[in-house]
Amino acid sequence: MVLELTRPIVQAPMAGGPSTPALAAAVSEAGGLGFLAAGYRTPEAVREDVRAVRGLTGARVGVNVFLPGPPGDDEAVRRYAAELRAEADRWGVELGEPRADDDAWEAKVAVCVEERVPVVSFTFGLPRPDVVAALHDAGALVLVTVTTPEEAVAARDVGADALVVQGVEAGGHRGGFRDHDGEGEYGLLALLRLIARAADLPMVAAGGLVDGPSVAAALVAGAEAAQLGTAFLACPEAGTGHAHREALAGSAGTALTRAFSGRRARGLVNRFLAEHTATAPSAYPQVHHLTTPLRAAARTAGDADGVNLWAGQAYRLVEPRPAGELVRRLADDAHAALVRAAAR
Ligand SMILES: Cc1cc2nc3c(=O)[nH]c(=O)nc-3n(C[C@H](O)[C@H](O)[C@H](O)COP(=O)(O)O)c2cc1C
Repeated sequence: MVLELTRPIVQAPMAGGPSTPALAAAVSEAGGLGFLAAGYRTPEAVREDVRAVRGLTGARVGVNVFLPGPPGDDEAVRRYAAELRAEADRWGVELGEPRADDDAWEAKVAVCVEERVPVVSFTFGLPRPDVVAALHDAGALVLVTVTTPEEAVAARDVGADALVVQGVEAGGHRGGFRDHDGEGEYGLLALLRLIARAADLPMVAAGGLVDGPSVAAALVAGAEAAQLGTAFLACPEAGTGHAHREALAGSAGTALTRAFSGRRARGLVNRFLAEHTATAPSAYPQVHHLTTPLRAAARTAGDADGVNLWAGQAYRLVEPRPAGELVRRLADDAHAALVRAAAR
């Protein structure tokens, strides 16, 4: 058990606001593993978050870093920007500058090394072996998010200590190395078994897990722990916006879309997603920056139809409760489900 958790629950890093130091600390205090999301934050803000967590708990908390991919096609981004002009007019704002930055990922890794962050996970790519080695030298465990057996093998070969195996049920972005239609869209159960055979590394299962029985299923399928995002969005400690919380109590369907960021992500179907999914190009992070002012305006106005409402497929089962209580309950219910299953 490489993560050495008292309870087999990992709180998914959730960039864009939901992952607060208070949420991560509460999860780790309860015997799970809390995560801070470095994505979209400055390296200085990441350092502040790490130190804020240390003020709240002595337990280990991880940091998640986004790796950059190849930039999207400028002409496709220009066409999409022309389409979004009507959205900008609706709010009386300018579209954002569609720049292709690297999210300052190397500086964030340096912060993790300097602060001796105990667990570092990567998303959207494969870290270089020297980056993995530098983190190992600083005492960190390195996790890589994978969505195919091939990615799992590649992660093993650069020295990853464990894999975050993300099924297509997951809320938020597809965390795999590439953004190609249909690629990495395995259901979690199939993916866990394929990867167990392909790469002999500890697995953390993610995607559509929201209650004890689903966590139990992931453990039976070979995972050492379950990583839940959507279930933690409803916790009082999370920084989830009001419109997002309300939408999670509704009954909309979920779908994969590039409309908000230029990379496939699963969210609740709302007006913006329905109107722009067919035309949005694969161009991350340009489209993310392009739509930032639109999402900010919609959020300020409390308009759930204009913001990205990331949610996994099982979101309707989520019950709001404090994070520590959620971790304990998930572990107890998973244990009870395993006992019931063994008796069948
Ligand atoms: C609001 C939201 C934000 C997310 N942000 C990140 C992130 O910053 N880094 C990351 O690796 N995964 C991110 N994810 C994906 C989670 O790591 C995880 O794969 C997913 O939440 C699992 O599916 P579930 O939401 O059904 O539990 C995010 C998910 C959500 C719902």
